[in-house]
Amino acid sequence: MAGVKNLAPGDLPVAGDLLAAAFMDDPFFRAMVPDPPRRRRWLRVVQTANLRTLLPEGHVYGERDGAAALVPPGRYPLPLVRLLAFFARIAPRSIEGHLPPRSWLRGWRMQDLIDRIHPREPHWYVSVIGVRPEAHGSGLGRRLIEHAIGLAGELPLYLETTNPRNLPFYARFGFDSVGRHETSDGDPVWAMVHGRRSSRIAGMTESSSSSRV
Ligand SMILES: CC(C)(COP(=O)(O)OP(=O)(O)OC[C@H]1O[C@@H](n2cnc3c(N)ncnc32)[C@H](O)[C@@H]1OP(=O)(O)O)[C@@H](O)C(=O)NCCC(=O)NCCS
Repeated sequence: MAGVKNLAPGDLPVAGDLLAAAFMDDPFFRAMVPDPPRRRRWLRVVQTANLRTLLPEGHVYGERDGAAALVPPGRYPLPLVRLLAFFARIAPRSIEGHLPPRSWLRGWRMQDLIDRIHPREPHWYVSVIGVRPEAHGSGLGRRLIEHAIGLAGELPLYLETTNPRNLPFYARFGFDSVGRHETSDGDPVWAMVHGRRSSRIAGMTESSSSSRV
């Protein structure tokens, strides 16, 4: 029977590549890196680096055509040394790949917004989840998100998405939308939470349902 398994360091290039394929049509990444071949290269670099950075947290998992990475309670933001290692992994590759400064800036503003809206109380965080487009609709996304819901148990499970097409997907698994935010570039991001046992996360609905920062 199929099932998700924890990934090993040697699995990460393939997982990074499938996540790059999964996010090619994401509206934010399309706007950030309009050229498709360049976008694909950049996504492969950044997704693989993110998985490598999160691997020590112990919850990078997947199957052949899908992968996800979670951050356990109290671990976001990651320690500075790990964030620096992440940037050290992506910076040389983006210079090689000629990622324009405006793309960098757009990405930086989105990451800054994501950091600022991130809840502070104990929760699990879905840093990334994705399925290779050819495998969409085969139940893999369900297995990946249900694994995360199972791990979170009684604690809230938080995520954000830059693609409104994902909102009904998460809603069917019991996630509630707790805010829509926008960068100064006009790039939107939606925050969602599963298991509204945290008053502050639930309270985001009222306090910041549509902020532009
Ligand atoms: C979102 C994603 C992970 C879903 O993966 P998937 O393997 O296609 O999903 P599944 O086949 O397991 O679908 C599970 C159920 O959700 C439904 N579903 C899938 N995508 C949906 C969507 N966008 N809206 C509503 N329902 C959706 C399926 O029809 C299925 O329903 P069923 O169980 O009644 O048959 C996948 O579309 C993806 O990788 N997207 C690009 C990357 C991305 O945006 N990731 C999320 C970042 S926050």
